[in-house]
Amino acid sequence: MGSTVYLETIGCQMNVADSERADVRLRAAGFDLSQSPETADVIIFNTCSVRERAANKVFTRIGEVRRQRLGREPVVGVMGCVAQLEGKTLFDNSPSVNLIVGTRATDRLPELVNRALEGERRVIDLDERADGEKWDVPATARTSKYVAFVPIIEGCNKFCTYCIVPFSRGREKSRAASDIVAEIRELRDHGYREIHLIGQNVNSYRPGTEAGLEGFKGATAFCRLLRAAAATGMERIKFTTSFPRDFHPDIVAAIDEHENLCEWVHLPVQSGSDRVLRAMRRGHTASDYMARIAAIKKARRRMAITSDIIVGFPGETEADFRETLKLVGQVGYDALFIFKYSERPGTPAARLDDDVSRSEKTARFLELEEMQQQLQQKTYESYLGRVIKVLVERTSLKSDQDMSGHSTCHKVVNFPGGSAALGEVVSVRVTEAKPNSLYGQVTQAI
Ligand code: SAH
Ligand code: SF4
Ligand code: F3S
Repeated sequence: MGSTVYLETIGCQMNVADSERADVRLRAAGFDLSQSPETADVIIFNTCSVRERAANKVFTRIGEVRRQRLGREPVVGVMGCVAQLEGKTLFDNSPSVNLIVGTRATDRLPELVNRALEGERRVIDLDERADGEKWDVPATARTSKYVAFVPIIEGCNKFCTYCIVPFSRGREKSRAASDIVAEIRELRDHGYREIHLIGQNVNSYRPGTEAGLEGFKGATAFCRLLRAAAATGMERIKFTTSFPRDFHPDIVAAIDEHENLCEWVHLPVQSGSDRVLRAMRRGHTASDYMARIAAIKKARRRMAITSDIIVGFPGETEADFRETLKLVGQVGYDALFIFKYSERPGTPAARLDDDVSRSEKTARFLELEEMQQQLQQKTYESYLGRVIKVLVERTSLKSDQDMSGHSTCHKVVNFPGGSAALGEVVSVRVTEAKPNSLYGQVTQAI
């Protein structure tokens, strides 16, 4: 029997996708993946550095897991963003760690794990492959049978002043469109009903060759990829995250023309104050951003819009924060992810004085959250009585009588289970608007 590996994921969807690839590579090399850290031979944490709390989580988890151990000491590995950034200092600071795998070394995980199992005490690989990453994950080996993440671009060249991602993930690298399209076709043929094209900034997609991007000359590469993806006939196609500066109106036109491109755009604004946006080096002003929103709102299809916001960036005044409240009020987001600024060592903003006090950050966070909840309630109520298509993904977390899934506009929708089967798309008539989800009754299975 092969050695057993327990793999735990912290962080964004890129990490989720990387863990899935790691899982597939490990199984192919003869390892067994295990759900129990208590007994596994190898424990690997796929880590996130985006905020201090996320970065510290791995250390708490290593401690917790080691206390639960039943047998001998496992190999403890750290992969992902913390691994890439901390490198070998992790060996010194966390003596139980004996394997460090950078963000570009996922494909080499099996051989690295084997070296650690054979007794090598400090195994580390932070290198990039000369011939690039192998992104493919076979449809037959994926965790979900209905929804699949398809990475299209990795890394980030934007260097927003607060952000660690360009350092942990390196420069942008786009995957060949022909490979992406082939993967979507394979997923479609295996019965997948929804895919998410993912990347730190999907709309910065710029592959080295035109292959796979036939037609629609003149449009941006991302837009041409969206159209090529739509042409595969995959039932539902979502994409995230979009970078405002590169959000070209041709994306809106493509969504309008292709029913299978889902009506949901995640377009993080971070702040409503031009002064703060400049200090963040986001490359857009509030009015540039609002022009993109206006284009989305003018579309034939009604689209859901979601965003990320940082409160308490260094130097953010009460007046700056009011600008953020104003912008949020104007847009009327379907959902908002709010973060308190967290200083990341090595980023340009870390040289600024982190001068918004903790209590002010919390007060701004709560005020924005409260405002969003009220606005969101209205948005959710506007769905009452409407019939929306929901992909049935799981039993509801709150009641095992109910099923749960997402709409094409990416809202969580719960409904009484009855005959709905996992992986089906059902029509649901919305009867209740909860704070962060909709509730309804199935009108028909499709
Ligand atoms: N590439 C995406 C975001 C990736 S990180 C974009 O540019 O929109 C996800 C979110 O984490 C960001 O949108 C931002 O809101 C938040 N974030 C990133 N760095 C942060 C920091 N140092 N402190 C607090 N929040 C941060
Ligand atoms: Fe970070 Fe900015 Fe890149 Fe997003 S675009 S990952 S916020 S540097
Ligand atoms: Fe975190 Fe790395 Fe993603 S820092 S948000 S896991 S790219």
